[in-house]
Amino acid sequence: MRINSFARVGVFCLLAGHGADAAITLDLTSTDSIKKAAGTVAFDLMSYYTGNNTGDVPGNLPDPYYWWEAGAMFGTMINYWYYTGDTTYNAVTQQALLHQAGDDADFMPLNQTKTEGNDDQGFWGMAAMTAAETKFADPPSGSPGWLALAQGVFNTQAARWDTSTCAGGLRWQIFTFNSGYNYKNSISNGCFFNLATRLALYTGNTTYSDWAVKTWDWMYAVGLMSPEYKVFDGTQNTDNCTSKDHNTWTYNAGIYLLGAAAMYNHTNGSALWQERVNGLLNASTVFFENGIMYEPCETSKCNTDQKSFKAYFTRWLAATAELAPFTHSTIMPLIASSATAAVKSCTAGNSGTQCGLKWTTGSNDGSLGVGEQMAVLEIVQSNLVDGAAGWVSAVKGTGSSEGDVNAGSGSSSTADDLIVTPVTTGDRVGAGFLTALMLIGVFGGSVTLCIS
Ligand SMILES: *[C@@H]1O[C@H](CO)[C@@H](O)[C@H](O)[C@H]1NC(C)=O
Ligand SMILES: *[C@@H]1O[C@H](CO)[C@@H](O)[C@H](O)[C@H]1NC(C)=O
Ligand SMILES: *[C@@H]1O[C@H](CO)[C@@H](O)[C@H](O)[C@H]1NC(C)=O
Ligand SMILES: *[C@@H]1O[C@H](CO)[C@@H](O)[C@H](O)[C@H]1NC(C)=O
Ligand SMILES: *[C@@H]1O[C@H](CO)[C@@H](O)[C@H](O)[C@H]1NC(C)=O
Ligand SMILES: *[C@@H]1O[C@H](CO)[C@@H](O)[C@H](O)[C@H]1NC(C)=O
Ligand SMILES: *[C@@H]1O[C@H](CO)[C@@H](O)[C@H](O)[C@H]1NC(C)=O
Repeated sequence: MRINSFARVGVFCLLAGHGADAAITLDLTSTDSIKKAAGTVAFDLMSYYTGNNTGDVPGNLPDPYYWWEAGAMFGTMINYWYYTGDTTYNAVTQQALLHQAGDDADFMPLNQTKTEGNDDQGFWGMAAMTAAETKFADPPSGSPGWLALAQGVFNTQAARWDTSTCAGGLRWQIFTFNSGYNYKNSISNGCFFNLATRLALYTGNTTYSDWAVKTWDWMYAVGLMSPEYKVFDGTQNTDNCTSKDHNTWTYNAGIYLLGAAAMYNHTNGSALWQERVNGLLNASTVFFENGIMYEPCETSKCNTDQKSFKAYFTRWLAATAELAPFTHSTIMPLIASSATAAVKSCTAGNSGTQCGLKWTTGSNDGSLGVGEQMAVLEIVQSNLVDGAAGWVSAVKGTGSSEGDVNAGSGSSSTADDLIVTPVTTGDRVGAGFLTALMLIGVFGGSVTLCIS
């Protein structure tokens, strides 16, 4: 009963906000305006974070957000600092990354292993890589460097390359007992590819570029990347990768796009990688409607994970514009028009500035959360990319992050090494229950907003 009346008032308030003027103004000709807008969106994003509260665990987001999304969020917060110079969240970001690095410095913390897949680990690894590339505040001495953490993820994943079926590839899941162990998907292989290309660019070590080439070639040979540069979701290991899920997602296009751009840059502008960057970028135009970015699921229903995908697509588009400058004139106008549309969705929630999911609607669509905030933050702050310092690297002599080529090699990162209990039905039901409680919280918040 209480739930129903809260829900009704909540919905009423969201609707009431529809006709209101934009709560966030964004003038793309003004650096200060972009920074101010990014600051507002970042504050609302971090208001979801509870990992720094007494008794909570640094790096975790509350339900319904999975562990990987927290890693993705801290990647966004490193970018936030890199683009705006605002250091407000640097300490919590550093604390979170180091806490979740786990005992072996490879983002395989024991608390997460029962549900952790290669893509989950990959998102934390890419956040560490971003920290190295942007010269984010180094960890204190005694802690592994950002570069070493990214290498730890790379090394553990290279060791999981699976030639038992489909002539190679990474499986989605790391552990046999997780459903999805028999799926080889584009995002897991994409995280590995993306990380390998950026490690090659940063260190110049050809081991990384060799793995990048091998992963690209496998994706193409197995048919997860089409001759038209469409990237499909994944393929079944059980039939030797014959049947496929042909869904496309913005983040799968983006993760290969930035990797190809990093290879283009690493090879000093090779024609082959230029063609691949062009092909992926051209194929990505399907994710824009009148110049405004959207996720294919927005025409039906996006789940919690999918609501965040535009954040990564945006992040990797902006970095591509820098590493492969011939894409700049295509990418930046799309980022600008999407950002202008996106902030119009930021009129909801307790703050009155929380953002929605569908930027194409010109208003808030009633969807609120970490993914929505993260995506708007990335699309706004990406407009600052030309004024940013640029990625550093050891090759250029500008990068100084401490590395360890053997990082992760002592890790308990194969299923055989670990004794872990599978996720039980009880755990999953528990997660759904907490989701319901969160929803009540959100609607409860709207009540306060409306009567105050
Ligand atoms: C945790 O971090 C958030 C976001 O930076 C901040 O608003 C909050 O005050 C912090 N909480 C504690 C207990 O430090
Ligand atoms: C693992 O969980 C325990 C209990 O909640 C917590 O004390 C610890 O900090 C967690 N470790 C990591 C790396 O998250
Ligand atoms: C599985 O597919 C790979 C190429 O994708 C092929 O080389 C291999 O022979 C196939 N194995 C079987 C058992 O069909
Ligand atoms: C790229 O150019 C730099 C500087 O001219 C050179 O040191 C490096 O070897 C080149 N890299 C490749 C992959 O050709
Ligand atoms: C660009 O993509 C479209 C399909 O979206 C395709 O028809 C066209 O051939 C592509 N152009 C190039 C140059 O790859
Ligand atoms: C590589 O990226 C840098 C920016 O980090 C850019 O200045 C340079 O022109 C790029 N190299 C090529 C070959 O496009
Ligand atoms: C390059 O990386 C590989 C894989 O981590 C490592 O074994 C090798 O020692 C590295 N080479 C150099 C020169 O650092």
